[in-house]
Amino acid sequence: MSDLAAFLRAWARDPLSIAAVAPSGPSLARLITAEITADMAPVIELGPGTGVFTKALIERGLREADLILVESEADFARLLEVRFPQARVLQGDAARVRRHRALLNGDLAGATISGLPVLSMNAAQQMKIMRGCFDLMRPGGRFYQFSYSPVCPVRRPVLERLGLRARRLSSTVRNLPPAAVYEISRIDE
Ligand SMILES: C[S@@+](CC[C@H](N)C(=O)[O-])C[C@H]1O[C@@H](n2cnc3c(N)ncnc32)[C@H](O)[C@@H]1O
Repeated sequence: MSDLAAFLRAWARDPLSIAAVAPSGPSLARLITAEITADMAPVIELGPGTGVFTKALIERGLREADLILVESEADFARLLEVRFPQARVLQGDAARVRRHRALLNGDLAGATISGLPVLSMNAAQQMKIMRGCFDLMRPGGRFYQFSYSPVCPVRRPVLERLGLRARRLSSTVRNLPPAAVYEISRIDE
């Protein structure tokens, strides 16, 4: 099955959680991974879908074994296991990412890339995801989120409560629909 067909099938099953009818394009994959370097390993990816951003992370020098992929959709999780056999694939809710600290083997991550539909999530869900990821990231850790929205999709009260700030990094019209990338970091870093 093609990636597009896999996406459409998943979208038909659960449109709110997939929130797109096709995988992101290479232009957005390049943008969201542009600041990632191999010394940021391990890297967490939330909502990888068919692995468009995962592939871009590997092209930027990350080893598969340094990637932790958290995907709720079972078919996507199986596909990721086949495509990236050395990566650690967790099938489950990104809001529970903190439970998987052991997978980091004592290391903390340098970055998180997120393809999650955070715009449609309530504040409590966003809070769990952001808190969980920042707990698993070392000082200087960065969270990269793409969105079709012109403003950061993580709510301001969530950012303020967790002592985080968001910066719009860049955007691309060479994606359907056009998308922007936001970088979220701790305020005091
Ligand atoms: C908009 S798609 C993005 C997929 C891929 N990153 C891309 O850009 O092509 C959203 C992805 O997040 C996954 N997802 C949605 N909610 C999730 C959750 N709570 N935990 C983990 N994955 C989730 C969906 O299954 C889907 O793969």
